[in-house]
Parts: sequence; structure tokens; C-alpha cells
Amino acid sequence: MPVMGATATNSLGQITLREWLIDASAALLRAGVSDAHVAAECLLMAALGYDRAQLFARLGATLPPELLPQLDGWLQRCLAREPLAYVLGEREFWSRTFVVSPAVLVPRPETEHLVEVALACFPEAARGATIRACDVGTGSGCLAATLAAEWPAAEVVATDVSAEALAVARENARRLGVAERVHFMMADGLSAFLPQSFDLVISNPPYLSETDWAHADPELAYEPRVALDGGPDGLAVIRRIVAAAPRVLRRGGWLVLEMGSSQSDAVQELARQARAQHLFVQNDLAGWPRVVAARW
Ligand SMILES: C[S@@+](CC[C@H](N)C(=O)[O-])C[C@H]1O[C@@H](n2cnc3c(N)ncnc32)[C@H](O)[C@@H]1O
Repeated sequence: MPVMGATATNSLGQITLREWLIDASAALLRAGVSDAHVAAECLLMAALGYDRAQLFARLGATLPPELLPQLDGWLQRCLAREPLAYVLGEREFWSRTFVVSPAVLVPRPETEHLVEVALACFPEAARGATIRACDVGTGSGCLAATLAAEWPAAEVVATDVSAEALAVARENARRLGVAERVHFMMADGLSAFLPQSFDLVISNPPYLSETDWAHADPELAYEPRVALDGGPDGLAVIRRIVAAAPRVLRRGGWLVLEMGSSQSDAVQELARQARAQHLFVQNDLAGWPRVVAARW
């Protein structure tokens, strides 16, 4: 039986979608890829232009042979532990599609809790109230563009220290039709902003510690280090954002911040030291503390 990449075809060079899925999932599992079966399905759906329902309705069909080289190329990249989102060039976030490249962190499901908390902090914004928000470290722009899309009158400033990331974020804001209300800035933390500039500061900053790095999945090596590395204890950027928040926030404004699951006590203590008036923590779906919201 001829073998192309990691998947096997019959003597006519044919393979069904089901057979490709089974072979690819097994190879991904052996390579240590988490959610191997889901990754194989995503590759197949992307190659065929199918959604999941279409894929499952046609599992017995023959895979068009002309798709095999592309599929096996993608599979090889996943087997080398390149993130699936970089292989496909996109990732879903809050039910919208964002383009991604190795210049930006792959948007994570747990970061959607930041959106959830921000929407809850400003219920009037969904009804058209004017909100001025700052997304510190915008990366792909997933937070900035999502908030601008959810809040029809919001003005969002999206910052990053990476010009390459800002270019990707700009493209996402354009695709989602919110580019007129998302203003991109190359800026380090919040030091560039005048006092009382924002109602909301939102950020998923780099927060991995040296210990986290030592135990990280191989996929993380493909992502920008500046997006992940939070210094020795992971809190280097968080410390600066929390310290600057009371200055740049208007009275009653919120800071909504993602953090590592073991950083909750430390981040809450930083917010108390910065004299936050109100403080709460939101857990992620796995039950880990993931978001701190603080009000001044
Ligand atoms: C964890 S990623 C988050 C990206 C995106 N907001 C998301 O949630 O997927 C952190 C981002 O912060 C940027 N960054 C790192 N240090 C920064 C700093 N001091 N000021 C502004 N942005 C910073 C990185 O370039 C990266 O794009």
C-alpha cells in the first residue's frame, strides 16, 4: 500500500475521509498533540471547505486525491507541534474568525472570559452607550475587535510593542468592519496615556513565569516570546498595568486582566495595593482563577 506522508492510500491511490481521519488522528496522538482527533477533523474540514455536519455526513466518501499533498503537508507541520491555528492561518474567538500568524499569540478560549467579564461590567455599552476602552497587548486584536463589534459606540485603543502584531490586529479589525473605531498604537504598557483616558483597561498580558516555561507544551515555542514571557515570576507586565490603571481610568472605571491560574492571590494583592475599590475573580471553564476585575 503506497504511503503518502502519515496517511495510507489503497492501490488506486484512494482513501476515504474516515480512513484519513483515523490515520491522521493516530499519528497526531503518537506525536503528543492534545485533542488529536479534533485537530485532524479541522485539517480535513479546512481542506474540503466543509463544516463539521458536512464532514460527518460524508465520512465514507473518497478524499479527492489532489487534496492529499496539501493535507499531508499540514499534517506534517502539526506533527512537528506547530500550532494548528498557524497551519490554517486562522482561529475562532467569540464566534468570529481571526487571522493569525506567528507574529501573534493564538487566541485562547480562556481569554473569552475577559470579554464575558467586560460585557458584564458595562451592560449599557451593548445598548449603545459610549465606552472608551484600551486593550493593552492586543496581539491578533481579538479582544479589541470583539469589544468594538459587541459595543456599537465603543472607541477602542489597541496597543502592542510588536509592529508585526499590530499589522495582524489591524487586518482583523478591517475584516470585522470595526476598523474606524479601533485605534492602533505602538506603546509599552499604559505610560503613553493621559490621566482618566479610559472607562475600561483590558489586557491578556504575557504572564508565564520561568517555571511555566520549563513545563510548556512544544507548541508554545512557535509563539512570540514577548507575548508569553512575564519575567521570573510571570508578573512583570501585570505589575506595571495594575500600577498604572488607577491613573488612566476614569472614576468608576474597570481593569479586566487575564492571569495565570496560580497568580490570583498575587494579582488581587497588587490591585489592593493600588487602592482598587471593588475586586472580583472569574474562574475559567476548568475551574481555575483566570480573570481579575478591579474597579477604582
Ligand atoms: C498574551 S499576548 C495577548 C494577545 C491577545 N490580546 C490575546 O489575548 O490573544 C500579549 C501581547 O502583549 C504584547 N506585549 C508584551 N509586552 C507588552 C508591553 N509591555 N506593552 C504592550 N504590549 C505588550 C505582546 O507583543 C503580545 O502581543
